[in-house]
Amino acid sequence: MTDVAERLEELRERGLHRRLRLVEGAQGPTVALDGRPVLLLCSNNYLGLADRAEVREAAAAAALRWGAGSGASRLISGNMEPHRELEARLAAFKGCEEALLFGSGYLANAGVIAALAGRGEVVFSDELNHASIVDGCRLSRAETVVYRHGDLEHLASCLRRAGDRASLIVTDGVFSMDGDVAPLSQLLELARRHGARLMVDEAHATGAIGPGGRGSVAAAGLSGEVDVVVGTLGKALGSYGAYACASAETIEFLVNSARPFIFSTAPPPSAAGAALAALDILEAEPGLVERLQANAEILRGALGAEGLDVGRSATQVVPVAVGEAEATMALCERALERGVFAQGIRPPTVPEGSCRLRFTAMATHRPQELTAAAREVGAAAREVGVTEPRALAA
Ligand SMILES: Cc1ncc(COP(=O)(O)O)c(C=O)c1O
Repeated sequence: MTDVAERLEELRERGLHRRLRLVEGAQGPTVALDGRPVLLLCSNNYLGLADRAEVREAAAAAALRWGAGSGASRLISGNMEPHRELEARLAAFKGCEEALLFGSGYLANAGVIAALAGRGEVVFSDELNHASIVDGCRLSRAETVVYRHGDLEHLASCLRRAGDRASLIVTDGVFSMDGDVAPLSQLLELARRHGARLMVDEAHATGAIGPGGRGSVAAAGLSGEVDVVVGTLGKALGSYGAYACASAETIEFLVNSARPFIFSTAPPPSAAGAALAALDILEAEPGLVERLQANAEILRGALGAEGLDVGRSATQVVPVAVGEAEATMALCERALERGVFAQGIRPPTVPEGSCRLRFTAMATHRPQELTAAAREVGAAAREVGVTEPRALAA
């Protein structure tokens, strides 16, 4: 056996082996998954914009006008009109001075954190932050202090211990696997008190919460006050790519120091065109966000009514606690047989023993589809014996 085969075998034994499933067609509320029709309940296409005609047409029009690719990084020859236009729109939407596009949310987090914190400094990261934040902290070479989830007292004591080495507090706005919202006002206050910056990742907040879907920072009334707000174009905005919003000075610094920005090809014009069309729709149809939030509430309520533990979810991200990896995947498969697709989530995406199905509501689901799906998941859970899940919110 090769060492790779051995490592694959070990993953299988631990119930952590992953395989790709094939979705046929666009990310609609129902899809064919490996040939089987299912209700799609784990896409981040929260507002249905990835499969909306105007957004697809805008992507196609941008490709026809500007080309299929950008040809180079922004600092070489890849800086094009659609990039500049989208950055201006994003900055205005988020209430910040300027915005800067990145190739993806993963790259934005990796680049911004590593640019803003360095050796000899301390970054404070919530224990449930997304892997791209974790990797950004590693790349920065700063000391990383992981504080207990949303625990302000713990964070305050860590900040006191770090003294003037405290550099950056970083948090998901809406937590990607739990669906709860970070206490941003208190985090900003702590940052200010200890001379640190605050960075918020709005990947699951943009288009989902806050006035007109402006995100968790706007929801907390802090637009323009948080040092760096990162978000992705790949979820509610239905496209691909990402952005950081900050002061003009900070953006100028990122242009000069964020390595994933400097050393990677600019996003394609089609991605910028699609995101611009998505912002047009979001601004013209705030009702979409309301529909998403109403659907999320229906989903949380219906899953809860089946005796399933949805933890501290307050948004469209709705986890159903299971516990161990094998039981989680058994429930995932049984739910699929009943026509419901919510992916099982295992370590390292979530901590050991807190495996779950991660449901996501979309604005394009019909309420009755959500309640019927919850009944199917409840029945599947009883069939596979997931009746006393380990609680998510300890
Ligand atoms: C909180 C969070 N940040 C960043 C990312 C990465 O964004 P992208 O998919 O654009 O790389 C994700 C996506 O999974 C996420 O959940």
